[in-house]
Amino acid sequence: MPAAKKTAAKKTAAKKTAAKVSRTDAIAILTADHKRVKKMFKTFEKMKEDGSAADKQALAQQICDELTLHADVEEKIFYPATRNSIDDADLLDEAEVEHASAKDLIAQIQAGDSSDPKWAAKVTVLGEYIDHHVQEEEEEMFPKARKAKMDLESLGREIAAMKESRQAEQPAPAAIVPAAAKTKSRAAGKTAAASRL
Ligand SMILES: [Fe+2]
Ligand SMILES: [Fe+2]
Repeated sequence: MPAAKKTAAKKTAAKKTAAKVSRTDAIAILTADHKRVKKMFKTFEKMKEDGSAADKQALAQQICDELTLHADVEEKIFYPATRNSIDDADLLDEAEVEHASAKDLIAQIQAGDSSDPKWAAKVTVLGEYIDHHVQEEEEEMFPKARKAKMDLESLGREIAAMKESRQAEQPAPAAIVPAAAKTKSRAAGKTAAASRL
């Protein structure tokens, strides 16, 4: 088959798979969480230089809350179901150990003070750590779970229900990235760029 035709065939296959994945599918929910938290870490990195201590603390708290809930739904719902369906206990053991280490770092960030110079470094390291963990989930665990034909729809409903009940217990935090902080950091970037000219 000519290369162009092969690419087109691949694209059609990918489209078909994407169409089959619903938003309530467990993997779709977990992947959306990954994307959201990645964005929050990116925002934190931008805020690191010139964001206020209060904004940084609030954003870090939101990251920690999101990650804790995400890790809990994986540990209580998704990981046990995956462990029962795929033949790779090591993969699940490693993921659980990674969760435990991430939770240690989360506890240090939550107990720490944003004025401590090492505090922001801990948030950065947590971001790098989560990046690595998410990559293993998305590239190894999730494809194996999908192949194992688990009931991802029903797991998705369980995950959504657990998240909803936990979020109802804790009121949502206020928006943590004020427009002023964004504008300020963009303006600072422009000034820095201008001074290099
Ligand atoms: Fe995880
Ligand atoms: Fe995850």
